[in-house]
Amino acid sequence: MSDTQSKSTNIVWHEGTVDRRRREAINRHRGLTIWFTGLSGSGKSTISVALEERLTDMSCRTYRLDGDNVRTGLCRDLTFSPEDRIENIRRIGEVAGLLRDAGIINLTAFISPYRRDREMARSLATDNDFVEVFVDASLAVCEQRDPKGLYKKARAGSIPNFTGISAPYEEPVSPEVHLNTGEQSIQQCVDQLVKYLIDNAYIETELAARAE
Ligand code: ADX
Repeated sequence: MSDTQSKSTNIVWHEGTVDRRRREAINRHRGLTIWFTGLSGSGKSTISVALEERLTDMSCRTYRLDGDNVRTGLCRDLTFSPEDRIENIRRIGEVAGLLRDAGIINLTAFISPYRRDREMARSLATDNDFVEVFVDASLAVCEQRDPKGLYKKARAGSIPNFTGISAPYEEPVSPEVHLNTGEQSIQQCVDQLVKYLIDNAYIETELAARAE
């Protein structure tokens, strides 16, 4: 499933008249991807929901892509085999690119266990519009939380290829933001992320003022 070659021939790109910069000027913030990565149960979904709430309060235009949700539609044909995970992240990387072009702050919450795939998703972005967020919680912490009871099932052998148990997770080497959800509260994580976005001028000062 991870064939990245286009099978379409005789296609010609059709340029519009409204471009991303005009959309961003209306929005008063950049179109960017906030790419959360981490083990199942590390807090990716929870933090992305809380961050989206805060950004919406600031009048930012946002959209959240979540692993469990996307696998009910766009990626419902994919399993958790290494090849299908690669294809999962390839598709999300492309969708994130469309949302950046639409001028939207998109928050993606996928385990995205392979460094190479995250780098591939990053390579589609320009102008630093890809912020990788390592949602760091030890396997022991995630397993203790086990919000969906999946670690228990994986330990019992009823879920194959389970990340952290029977499938690998490659930690980011130099993520833009590193959260430690074993020690930080959700609020502290969101504060750290908003500060990063403001400090790096992803959001115009006037909108940023609404965060206070
Ligand atoms: S990814 O590896 O392809 O990035 P993704 O984020 O889409 O994974 O989906 C992860 C979610 O699927 C987990 O949070 C969990 O709820 C569920 N899941 C089901 N089976 C597995 C598995 N074998 N490994 C990891 N997560 C699984």
